[in-house]
Amino acid sequence: MVKIKNICCIGAGYVGGPTMAVLALKCPDIRVVVVDANAARIDAWNQDDLTQLPVYEPGLAEVVAEARGRNLFFSKDVDQGIREADMVFISVNTPTKTYGEGKGMAADLKWVELCARQIAAVATTSKIVVEKSTLPVRTAQAIKDILHNSQSKISFQVLSNPEFLAEGTAIQDLLRPDRVLIGGDQSPEGKVAIQALASIYAAWVPEEKILTTNLWSSELSKLTANAFLAQRVSSINSISELCEATGADVDDVAKAIGMDSRIGSKFLKASVGFGGSCFKKDILNLVYICRSYQLHEVADYWEQVIRINDHQTERFAKQIIKSLYNTVNGKKIAFLGWAFKKDTNDTRESAAIYVADYLLDECAHVVVYDPKVPKEKIYADLDFLGTRSSEENRKLVEVVDSAYAACADAAAVAILTEWDEFVVLDWNQIYSTMKQPATLFDGRNILNGEQLEKIGFRFQGIGKAAL
Ligand code: NAD
Ligand code: UDX
Repeated sequence: MVKIKNICCIGAGYVGGPTMAVLALKCPDIRVVVVDANAARIDAWNQDDLTQLPVYEPGLAEVVAEARGRNLFFSKDVDQGIREADMVFISVNTPTKTYGEGKGMAADLKWVELCARQIAAVATTSKIVVEKSTLPVRTAQAIKDILHNSQSKISFQVLSNPEFLAEGTAIQDLLRPDRVLIGGDQSPEGKVAIQALASIYAAWVPEEKILTTNLWSSELSKLTANAFLAQRVSSINSISELCEATGADVDDVAKAIGMDSRIGSKFLKASVGFGGSCFKKDILNLVYICRSYQLHEVADYWEQVIRINDHQTERFAKQIIKSLYNTVNGKKIAFLGWAFKKDTNDTRESAAIYVADYLLDECAHVVVYDPKVPKEKIYADLDFLGTRSSEENRKLVEVVDSAYAACADAAAVAILTEWDEFVVLDWNQIYSTMKQPATLFDGRNILNGEQLEKIGFRFQGIGKAAL
């Protein structure tokens, strides 16, 4: 059995950082070095103040505090990290392509390919290369080609080990995963590599939860898992619109269907729309792959999951405009939350960005409060859309540091992220500081509409009786 002593992870982001921190915590005999081309990110991982790590995740600071400097290191020297490792994880970003063939659909594998080339260029000893990034099925073939065509005579094994953590619960997900999936070549050398990685996880994951497959099943399982999860959200969100039209309550419907053990109760929370860096890009990628194999009906089926999500977000913005007498021009609208879900500072593809963009097109004055997202990130998200100039975004959008400040003088409040602190706000006080009639749009169904209506709010939840 090959015993791994040195691991290098390329990519110190939302996956690389927490994943390697937990691995280092659980395997004190393995030296784990996380490297990144972004020097500022490495500096942030190395700083003394653990409340300022580049990734916010409950429990992460404690894990980093224990492992960092013991057997967990963050370094800017990518070459050295690769050279010293027996196993190299590739955990870099794989966003949707913004140019050329497959623009807006395919995954951009530029950074993954760069990693493979860099490993091939600097390696002086044999290595197991592990795909941790989410990749289109058969990417391992491209990585193998690059590694094996390098000048050196070094041997490489490529494994697929997709990451299933969800942000906000990453540390718990990593400590107690539903399963760990390892795909590899079914050759004797491939099986040895699979076992080497499986034995690392065996330090804290029960054996029956460590699944091994061939490379293609592993790669495809990751895209499929995200597609199924997102599909559940789009399914309940589609029903939420029907609930609003008919007087049914989507939370009641979700409970009733979720108690059927064949359906299950998780991931049935109607919302303003799913966000995050994964769902949209991974489904677009799945759709692109299906089309490239001429599987158009399959592609259309999955594409609809995204169409419903876009529709849900737009519908939420339109509801705000409609209920404010069809004009939001110059009206102050408070946004509570900007992150794509609670307990993370990540805003990628957050529904809040798109709802804001829609309202800003209608000349609304949007005031945002989020407990973890910095002001500059909010402006950067809006600037990235390119809908209007950066000066205009700064003129129309204000970012404040409390929910009460955001809501004062507002015509409407919209809950965009389900942060726990929003549930326990003093809504009586907020009501008294708002313009009347005060309207509250709960895009996460976290508040009790009946109680808020008693205070005097005009209340609209997702999939609840329409205003
Ligand atoms: P991220 O953008 O937070 O981090 C990626 C990091 O890789 C960046 O810091 C970037 O500087 C670095 N990088 C890129 N190319 C590099 C190179 N050639 N050399 C050195 N560093 C390089 O991305 P993420 O959210 O951590 O996601 C990484 C991968 O994991 C993606 O494929 C994603 O789909 C997948 N994934 C993400 C999540 C999630 O919740 N974020 C969950 C499961 C899987
Ligand atoms: C997702 C997958 O869950 C995870 O396994 C994968 O590794 C990465 O992608 P993440 O995007 O971090 O994780 O969070 P997730 O909890 O899946 O939520 C995604 C989005 O769906 C969020 O915007 C969330 O608010 C929304 N959502 C989720 C709902 O609107 N309703 C639900 O019932 C569940």
